[in-house]
Amino acid sequence: MRVGVFDSGVGGLSVVKSLLEYKLFNEIIYLGDTARVPYGTKDKNTIIRYSLEALEFFKNFDIDMMITACNSVSAYAIEELRQNALFDIVGVIEPGVRALINRVDNKNAKILIIATKATILSKKYQTYLHKQGYTNTISKATPLFVPLVEEGIFEGKILEETMRYYFHDICEPDICIMGCTHFPLIKKELQKFYPNTLFIHSGEAIVEYLEDKFSLTGDFSKTDLKLFATENPDYLKQVAKNWLTHN
Ligand code: DGL
Repeated sequence: MRVGVFDSGVGGLSVVKSLLEYKLFNEIIYLGDTARVPYGTKDKNTIIRYSLEALEFFKNFDIDMMITACNSVSAYAIEELRQNALFDIVGVIEPGVRALINRVDNKNAKILIIATKATILSKKYQTYLHKQGYTNTISKATPLFVPLVEEGIFEGKILEETMRYYFHDICEPDICIMGCTHFPLIKKELQKFYPNTLFIHSGEAIVEYLEDKFSLTGDFSKTDLKLFATENPDYLKQVAKNWLTHN
C-alpha cells in the first residue's frame, strides 16, 4: 500500500511520524511545498491551485491514497482534489473531529481550536463540531507557531511568550484541537501552558480514521519513506531526521 502525503512544508512530517509508528503503509511518498510555505496566510484560490499542482506530482507515482497532511489544504481544496484524482483523498479535519467525538461525550466541553488563519477563517472545524452538537468552541489563529516550529524552536522563552500573547485571555479549555500539523511538535509546551487540557493531534487522529474507514491494520514490517520538496530538499531531509526522532 503506497500513500502520498502532502503538506505546505515540513509540518506534515508530524503526520508521517504517526503513519510510521502504526506501520499502515509500506511506502510513503512525501511532498512538502517548501518553496511556497506558508499556505495558512494564502487565500482559497491559491491554496486550491497549489494543491492541484501537488496532485499532478503524485500522479507520477502509483499511489493508492493521498493524505493532505495540511489543515489549510484540507479546509479548502479537498473537493477539488477529489474531483481530479483516481485515488482516495484524505484530509485531516474530519479525522480530527472524529477523534474528538471518540474521546469526548460532554457536548458542553470547552473546545479551543488553534490553527492557521486560513483554517480558522474557513470555519471547517467549527462547523463540523457544531453539527455534532459541540457548540462551546473558541477559535484562535496562532500563525506565529508555524515559523517557530520551522526554525526548530520547540521550547523556551520565545515560545512561552508567544503562547502568552495568544492565550492570555483564554481560560484553560477542556480540549484543544491542534488544527495545524506543525503544532504537535510544541505539544509538550502547550500542555505545560494548559496542564489539564486534552490535545487532539492530526497524526493520531488520521491513524484512527484510516483504521476505521479503510480497515488498514498496520501489518507492514517496514515502511519506505521518500521525501520530496519544491525547494531545498536537504532541509526537508534534515528536519525529517530531527523530527521523526523527536518525542
Ligand atoms: N501545516 C500547515 C497546516 O496544517 C500549516 C503551515 C502553513 O501555514 O502552511 O495548516
